[in-house]
Amino acid sequence: MKGNLIIKNASELVTCSGFKAKQGKEMSELNIIYDGAVVIEDGIIKEVGKTEDILSKIEESEYKVIDATDKAVLPGFVDSHTHFVFGGYRAEEFSWRLRGDSYMEIMKRGGGIVNTVEATRKATKNELLREGKKRLDSMLSFGVTTVEGKSGYGLDFETEIKQLEVMNELDKIHHVDIVKTFLGAHAIPKEYKGKEDEFIDYMINEVMPEVAENELAEFCDIFCEKNVFSIEQSRRLLSEAKKLGLKLKIHADEIVQLGGAELACELGAISADHLLRVSDNGVKKMAETGVVATLLPGTAFSLKESYARARYMIDNNCAVALATDLNPGSCFTESIPLIFALATLYMEMTPEEAVTAFTINGAAAIDRADEIGSIDVSKKGDLVILEYPSYKYIPYHIGVNTVEKVVKNGRLVYE
Ligand code: NIG
Ligand code: FE
Repeated sequence: MKGNLIIKNASELVTCSGFKAKQGKEMSELNIIYDGAVVIEDGIIKEVGKTEDILSKIEESEYKVIDATDKAVLPGFVDSHTHFVFGGYRAEEFSWRLRGDSYMEIMKRGGGIVNTVEATRKATKNELLREGKKRLDSMLSFGVTTVEGKSGYGLDFETEIKQLEVMNELDKIHHVDIVKTFLGAHAIPKEYKGKEDEFIDYMINEVMPEVAENELAEFCDIFCEKNVFSIEQSRRLLSEAKKLGLKLKIHADEIVQLGGAELACELGAISADHLLRVSDNGVKKMAETGVVATLLPGTAFSLKESYARARYMIDNNCAVALATDLNPGSCFTESIPLIFALATLYMEMTPEEAVTAFTINGAAAIDRADEIGSIDVSKKGDLVILEYPSYKYIPYHIGVNTVEKVVKNGRLVYE
């Protein structure tokens, strides 16, 4: 069901206009229409302009009308990096980390990702569906209209497929659109300890073909990190994924500088994510090749690591996206306002750059910049209406949700 809708009198219609990632200085351009209106027909944006001009050529009575007087209207947010389908929780580990244990220490002694793997293997599809739906409801309330979700808590054939199928079903029943990523190489499961290369072979030969053949995922990702998967192992897995037609993402240079960003550029990945320790050369190459730098400040905050160098990346012409990284370990939050606060207060991003990073650049990070991420004619009618007159209130009202209404495919789905 797709809607016919007019939103009129928006104090700011923050269009973020564009059909590809914005790099460097372009990230400051929000292309705002003051006293703006947008017309959506059958779920697709048909007209964008000044309210006066739009209303002079449209018969209002044929549409549902939302009056956005004193409110800012933005494109729906795109959360382009999450792990939102998982079983169990790891609250205990959070307390250990507060006491001083590091994320990698906990992982080495058998906690961390493999802990969630155990719970996800045990969980039924219905349990995963129920929990996943709750998380999507919460994301929608923060203005998220498209989310990327990764597998990676199965690390075996059955559970990896189960996670992807759960996302498929959620995509059908929920307003939020889901883009799926196969992250079979997220950690080394207990049964492959010390046999990392064999595990990569298993993923390439047994699991990935099933994923690609049944179109269970659009992207392939890997946790390229010291003591997890090496550059060589990552290159091998991602190259095979590419041959099968999957697009690429990579968890790169998060804790140790391994050169994951450079690998992403070499392989033509759509995005490289985390990047807390990326090299200057990695930044230069991402700017040259247009690989989107997806930054996840919630994770740095939660792990008490230093933040990614967003300012340096933007000043050096990268396209930066922001995402939550929602997961049960390193960053258990789906809060968009938290990420806005961290990006602007701790990463020296301007409010304009943060908005771009959560809209058109988030869309580009999942290869959807032609469809979503801006208020442009021909794109999906996915919009957020704030309770305030300007986008500037998003980081200013620290950590509080400023979203009043969410429109998905031209229908009001949250208020
Ligand atoms: O993006 N870095 C690896 N993967 C996740 C963490 C997953 C977990 O701890 O469960 C991340 O931070
Ligand atoms: Fe992640």
